[in-house]
Amino acid sequence: MTQTQEEQKHAVAQAAIQYIPTGSIVGVGTGSTANYFIDELAKIKHKIDGAVASSDDTAQRLRKHHIEVLDLNNVSELPVYIDGADEITEHLHMIKGGGGALTREKIVAATAKKFVCIADQSKLVGVLGTFPLPVEVIPMARSYVARAIVQQLGGRPVLREGFITNNGNVILDVHGLEILNPIELETDLNQIAGIVTNGLFARRGANVLLLGTDNGIRIIDI
Ligand code: A5P
Repeated sequence: MTQTQEEQKHAVAQAAIQYIPTGSIVGVGTGSTANYFIDELAKIKHKIDGAVASSDDTAQRLRKHHIEVLDLNNVSELPVYIDGADEITEHLHMIKGGGGALTREKIVAATAKKFVCIADQSKLVGVLGTFPLPVEVIPMARSYVARAIVQQLGGRPVLREGFITNNGNVILDVHGLEILNPIELETDLNQIAGIVTNGLFARRGANVLLLGTDNGIRIIDI
Protein backbone atom coordinates (compact mmCIF):
# COMPACT_ATOMS: atom_id res chain seq x y z
CA MET A 1 0.00 0.00 0.00
CA THR A 2 1.40 3.40 -0.98
CA GLN A 3 2.33 5.62 1.95
CA THR A 4 2.15 9.38 1.77
CA GLN A 5 5.26 11.44 2.50
CA GLU A 6 3.87 12.32 5.93
CA GLU A 7 3.15 8.65 6.70
CA GLN A 8 6.71 7.76 5.70
CA LYS A 9 8.12 10.47 8.00
CA HIS A 10 5.95 9.22 10.85
CA ALA A 11 6.98 5.60 10.27
CA VAL A 12 10.73 6.33 10.35
CA ALA A 13 10.31 8.55 13.40
CA GLN A 14 8.65 5.64 15.19
CA ALA A 15 11.36 3.22 14.05
CA ALA A 16 14.14 5.50 15.36
CA ILE A 17 12.99 4.94 18.94
CA GLN A 18 14.64 1.51 18.99
CA TYR A 19 18.06 3.17 18.56
CA ILE A 20 17.80 4.95 21.92
CA PRO A 21 19.55 3.21 24.81
CA THR A 22 17.58 3.24 28.08
CA GLY A 23 18.81 5.91 30.48
CA SER A 24 20.59 7.91 27.81
CA ILE A 25 20.52 11.53 26.70
CA VAL A 26 19.26 11.89 23.13
CA GLY A 27 20.46 14.38 20.51
CA VAL A 28 17.42 15.71 18.66
CA GLY A 29 17.37 17.29 15.19
CA THR A 30 15.18 19.91 13.59
CA GLY A 31 12.45 19.85 10.95
CA SER A 32 9.16 18.17 10.22
CA THR A 33 10.55 14.61 10.41
CA ALA A 34 12.36 15.41 13.66
CA ASN A 35 9.07 16.81 14.99
CA TYR A 36 7.40 13.43 14.44
CA PHE A 37 10.34 11.90 16.29
CA ILE A 38 9.93 14.28 19.25
CA ASP A 39 6.30 13.27 19.53
CA GLU A 40 7.35 9.59 19.60
CA LEU A 41 10.10 10.34 22.12
CA ALA A 42 7.48 11.82 24.44
CA LYS A 43 5.87 8.38 24.68
CA ILE A 44 9.07 6.89 26.15
CA LYS A 45 10.30 9.94 28.06
CA HIS A 46 10.39 8.00 31.36
CA LYS A 47 13.12 5.80 29.80
CA ILE A 48 15.55 8.63 28.92
CA ASP A 49 17.54 11.12 31.00
CA GLY A 50 16.85 14.10 28.74
CA ALA A 51 17.64 15.57 25.36
CA VAL A 52 19.99 17.98 23.64
CA ALA A 53 18.24 20.20 21.09
CA SER A 54 19.66 21.32 17.75
CA SER A 55 17.49 24.46 17.59
CA ASP A 56 15.23 26.71 19.62
CA ASP A 57 12.17 25.24 17.86
CA THR A 58 13.19 21.72 18.83
CA ALA A 59 13.91 22.77 22.43
CA GLN A 60 10.46 24.33 22.61
CA ARG A 61 8.72 21.21 21.28
CA LEU A 62 10.68 18.97 23.67
CA ARG A 63 9.74 21.17 26.63
CA LYS A 64 6.10 21.16 25.57
CA HIS A 65 6.25 17.39 26.05
CA HIS A 66 7.98 17.88 29.43
CA ILE A 67 11.22 16.35 28.18
CA GLU A 68 14.20 17.92 29.94
CA VAL A 69 16.45 19.90 27.56
CA LEU A 70 20.11 19.86 28.58
CA ASP A 71 22.96 22.18 27.67
CA LEU A 72 25.40 20.25 25.49
CA ASN A 73 28.27 21.56 27.63
CA ASN A 74 26.90 19.63 30.59
CA VAL A 75 26.59 16.34 28.71
CA SER A 76 29.55 13.99 28.70
CA GLU A 77 28.09 11.28 26.48
CA LEU A 78 25.59 11.40 23.67
CA PRO A 79 25.05 7.88 22.30
CA VAL A 80 22.71 8.89 19.50
CA TYR A 81 21.62 11.86 17.39
CA ILE A 82 18.41 11.56 15.38
CA ASP A 83 17.60 14.01 12.60
CA GLY A 84 16.20 14.38 9.11
CA ALA A 85 17.94 15.55 5.93
CA ASP A 86 17.15 17.57 2.83
CA GLU A 87 19.09 15.17 0.60
CA ILE A 88 21.00 11.98 1.40
CA THR A 89 23.02 9.54 -0.72
CA GLU A 90 23.57 5.81 -0.32
CA HIS A 91 26.96 6.75 1.19
CA LEU A 92 24.95 8.59 3.88
CA HIS A 93 26.36 11.98 2.94
CA MET A 94 23.74 14.69 3.38
CA ILE A 95 22.65 18.21 2.64
CA LYS A 96 21.01 19.72 5.70
CA GLY A 97 19.97 23.18 6.80
CA GLY A 98 16.72 23.67 4.90
CA GLY A 99 15.31 24.76 8.24
CA GLY A 100 18.36 26.90 8.94
CA ALA A 101 19.52 24.90 11.96
CA LEU A 102 22.66 23.48 10.32
CA THR A 103 25.26 24.83 12.74
CA ARG A 104 23.75 23.46 15.92
CA GLU A 105 22.84 20.28 14.05
CA LYS A 106 26.46 19.81 13.01
CA ILE A 107 27.69 20.40 16.54
CA VAL A 108 25.28 17.91 18.11
CA ALA A 109 25.96 15.39 15.33
CA ALA A 110 29.72 15.75 15.90
CA THR A 111 29.28 15.04 19.60
CA ALA A 112 27.09 11.98 19.12
CA LYS A 113 28.44 8.47 18.81
CA LYS A 114 25.81 7.45 16.26
CA PHE A 115 23.84 9.58 13.76
CA VAL A 116 20.55 8.02 12.76
CA CYS A 117 19.01 9.85 9.80
CA ILE A 118 15.25 9.58 9.35
CA ALA A 119 13.84 10.53 5.98
CA ASP A 120 11.08 9.86 3.47
CA GLN A 121 12.04 8.37 0.11
CA SER A 122 12.05 11.73 -1.69
CA LYS A 123 15.28 12.62 0.15
CA LEU A 124 17.40 9.82 -1.34
CA VAL A 125 19.46 11.07 -4.32
CA GLY A 126 22.30 9.80 -6.49
CA VAL A 127 24.20 13.10 -6.44
CA LEU A 128 23.78 15.92 -3.90
CA GLY A 129 23.06 19.45 -5.07
CA THR A 130 19.57 19.69 -6.52
CA PHE A 131 18.50 21.01 -3.12
CA PRO A 132 20.29 24.37 -2.73
CA LEU A 133 23.19 24.03 -0.29
CA PRO A 134 22.62 26.20 2.83
CA VAL A 135 25.65 28.07 4.15
CA GLU A 136 25.49 30.01 7.44
CA VAL A 137 27.47 33.24 7.22
CA ILE A 138 28.49 36.01 9.64
CA PRO A 139 26.40 39.00 8.41
CA MET A 140 29.37 41.31 7.64
CA ALA A 141 30.91 38.61 5.40
CA ARG A 142 27.79 38.06 3.28
CA SER A 143 29.02 39.77 0.08
CA TYR A 144 32.57 38.46 0.37
CA VAL A 145 31.39 34.89 0.87
CA ALA A 146 28.89 35.15 -1.99
CA ARG A 147 31.67 36.33 -4.35
CA ALA A 148 34.05 33.61 -3.16
CA ILE A 149 31.41 30.94 -3.77
CA VAL A 150 30.76 32.22 -7.32
CA GLN A 151 34.47 32.47 -8.16
CA GLN A 152 35.75 29.32 -6.48
CA LEU A 153 32.84 26.94 -6.80
CA GLY A 154 30.70 28.24 -9.63
CA GLY A 155 27.59 28.08 -7.47
CA ARG A 156 24.80 30.66 -7.40
CA PRO A 157 24.32 31.94 -3.83
CA VAL A 158 20.94 33.41 -2.92
CA LEU A 159 20.36 35.21 0.38
CA ARG A 160 17.55 33.61 2.40
CA GLU A 161 15.41 36.72 2.72
CA GLY A 162 14.12 37.70 6.15
CA PHE A 163 15.81 34.81 7.91
CA ILE A 164 18.24 35.02 10.83
CA THR A 165 19.62 31.84 12.40
CA ASN A 166 19.46 31.00 16.11
CA ASN A 167 23.09 32.21 16.18
CA GLY A 168 22.28 35.65 14.72
CA ASN A 169 23.70 34.92 11.26
CA VAL A 170 22.36 34.85 7.69
CA ILE A 171 21.97 31.94 5.26
CA LEU A 172 23.10 31.81 1.66
CA ASP A 173 21.41 29.01 -0.29
CA VAL A 174 23.78 27.93 -3.05
CA HIS A 175 22.03 26.82 -6.23
CA GLY A 176 23.42 25.07 -9.26
CA LEU A 177 25.93 22.73 -7.63
CA GLU A 178 26.52 19.15 -8.71
CA ILE A 179 28.36 17.79 -5.69
CA LEU A 180 30.39 14.84 -6.89
CA ASN A 181 32.84 14.96 -3.98
CA PRO A 182 30.94 16.14 -0.89
CA ILE A 183 33.83 15.60 1.56
CA GLU A 184 36.11 17.81 -0.55
CA LEU A 185 33.49 20.54 -1.01
CA GLU A 186 32.63 20.54 2.70
CA THR A 187 36.32 20.97 3.50
CA ASP A 188 36.83 23.72 0.89
CA LEU A 189 33.83 25.72 2.10
CA ASN A 190 35.15 25.52 5.65
CA GLN A 191 38.22 27.48 4.49
CA ILE A 192 36.26 30.57 3.36
CA ALA A 193 36.45 33.30 6.02
CA GLY A 194 33.03 34.28 7.28
CA ILE A 195 31.35 30.92 6.73
CA VAL A 196 30.27 29.53 10.07
CA THR A 197 28.97 26.21 8.79
CA ASN A 198 28.02 24.67 5.48
CA GLY A 199 25.14 22.26 5.12
CA LEU A 200 27.19 19.36 3.80
CA PHE A 201 27.29 16.57 6.35
CA ALA A 202 29.84 14.30 4.65
CA ARG A 203 32.97 14.36 6.80
CA ARG A 204 30.64 13.23 9.57
CA GLY A 205 27.76 11.63 7.70
CA ALA A 206 25.02 9.46 9.13
CA ASN A 207 25.75 5.97 10.44
CA VAL A 208 22.28 4.65 9.72
CA LEU A 209 19.51 5.78 7.38
CA LEU A 210 15.91 4.82 8.07
CA LEU A 211 14.21 5.56 4.78
CA GLY A 212 10.44 5.54 4.51
CA THR A 213 9.33 3.94 1.23
CA ASP A 214 6.15 2.67 -0.37
CA ASN A 215 7.21 -0.82 0.69
CA GLY A 216 8.01 -0.02 4.30
CA ILE A 217 11.24 1.09 5.93
CA ARG A 218 14.52 0.51 4.15
CA ILE A 219 17.58 0.52 6.44
CA ILE A 220 20.99 1.53 5.13
CA ASP A 221 23.65 0.92 7.75
CA ILE A 222 27.33 1.68 7.16
C1 A5P B 1 17.00 21.70 9.43
O1 A5P B 1 17.89 22.75 9.40
C2 A5P B 1 17.36 20.69 8.40
O2 A5P B 1 18.66 20.27 8.41
C3 A5P B 1 16.42 19.51 8.48
O3 A5P B 1 17.01 18.42 9.08
C4 A5P B 1 16.02 19.18 7.12
O4 A5P B 1 15.60 20.38 6.51
C5 A5P B 1 14.93 18.12 7.05
O5 A5P B 1 13.69 18.68 7.32
P1 A5P B 1 12.35 17.91 7.04
O6 A5P B 1 12.34 16.72 7.95
O7 A5P B 1 11.29 18.92 7.41
O8 A5P B 1 12.32 17.56 5.61
